[in-house]
Amino acid sequence: MEWVLIKNLKNYPEREVEVKGWLYNKRSSGKIVFMIIRDGTGLLQCVLMKKDRPDLFEQAEKINQESSVIVRGTVREEPRSPGGVEMQLTDIEIVNIADNYPISLKEHGVDFLADRRHLWIRTPKQSALLRVRSTVEQACRDFLHQQDFVLADAPIITPAACEGTTTLFEIDYHGEKAFLSQSGQLYNEAAAMALGRIYCFGPTFRAEKSKTRRHLMEFWMMEAEAAYFDFEDNLKLQEGLIYFIIRTVLDKNKEDLKVLNRDIEKLEAVSLPFPRLSYTEAVEVLRNKGREFEWGNDFGAPDETEISTNFNSPVFVHRYPTKIKAFYMKPDPSDGKVVLGADLLAPEGYGEIIGGGQRIDDLTLLESRIREHNLPEEAFAWYLDLRRYGSVPHSGFGLGIERTVAWLCGIEHVRETIPFPRTLYRLYP
Ligand code: 4AD
Ligand code: MG
Repeated sequence: MEWVLIKNLKNYPEREVEVKGWLYNKRSSGKIVFMIIRDGTGLLQCVLMKKDRPDLFEQAEKINQESSVIVRGTVREEPRSPGGVEMQLTDIEIVNIADNYPISLKEHGVDFLADRRHLWIRTPKQSALLRVRSTVEQACRDFLHQQDFVLADAPIITPAACEGTTTLFEIDYHGEKAFLSQSGQLYNEAAAMALGRIYCFGPTFRAEKSKTRRHLMEFWMMEAEAAYFDFEDNLKLQEGLIYFIIRTVLDKNKEDLKVLNRDIEKLEAVSLPFPRLSYTEAVEVLRNKGREFEWGNDFGAPDETEISTNFNSPVFVHRYPTKIKAFYMKPDPSDGKVVLGADLLAPEGYGEIIGGGQRIDDLTLLESRIREHNLPEEAFAWYLDLRRYGSVPHSGFGLGIERTVAWLCGIEHVRETIPFPRTLYRLYP
């Protein structure tokens, strides 16, 4: 008999097929039993009448939550069921009867669930989030490959800091001090000088000391870098990517967004080009809303929410003060106090999802910035070589996957957008 995934069952009306999964829920009246089976692609309602198959009915009664089962039966259209079909059972094969399952279908506290993250991811909402995440990651790759970008994986163990020294995770590398990567950018710049347009995609690490709903210690970043891309080329690439991701998720994850109760009109309203505000204009916006904000300070989460709240699409905030941005950002030729960097702020209060900009391509300036930031010059010697041998204007950016998924799914906290989050006080499971 053909093994069919639940999400594909609608293509098998009136056919007898097999589904392999786990029992999510069960209701029985003593005469009729409804079993909800999950297989990772969706939920399927299975029906069995006692009078039709008393032997099978007895089997069904034994199966408890999260027992693994293979069910066989005829697929029927049923608009009221999840996925629009149900299965009239003709056979049940028990693979494993589960112990008493700790996560019941009632509400549980977040700590209780986080301690059981390895099981929590089986619930419909968590599975939906992880499927959206998978789509987002694949969409990033598809889009960049369409644009002729080459994947160049960056190292995880590194000798130097990319994003400031305050959030480094230090490790002992055979007696030498090393760090977990905060960003693949510096290596991306080298790869871009070799291959033109490149990206890396992997985990990055920040020893963030603050506990917020936007910060993880380990998060995944898609970082693109392109030789001969100026600031403007870079913004165009970013908005094209985000737009492509949204359209792909709307196309592939409609059912998941429904499970998540996401208001998809908000996503459908996103359009190109994205609005842009300079940092200075953004400060004006805050002041006009009655906030006291000093030019030169960095925006906090409430500021970002306030700035983005008037837009349906993500908004670029560009040309930040040099002092609050990373050492590698190129000064704006028409105003030395600001840099050609931009953050992309998601709507609905989700804050920064992308950070990027044009890089310093001049050797002398870069050397002095490394000194000003008290960065160890030896560790950056190789990076300076990139400005010695055929330096060109170049730009890039990093997209945080977890924040992007949180926004697209409309959920409160990034910890639910990654299979096994690493948060300030949690390293288990
Ligand atoms: O703005 P950030 O720090 O930029 C960079 O690391 C650049 N070197 C990227 C580049 O140009 N290649 O981080 C980029 C994005 C942020 O916009 C945010 O989405 C995400 O990474 N991010 C985090 N996500 C979750 N938890 C954290 N602690 C994060 N820190 C940054
Ligand atoms: Mg940033």
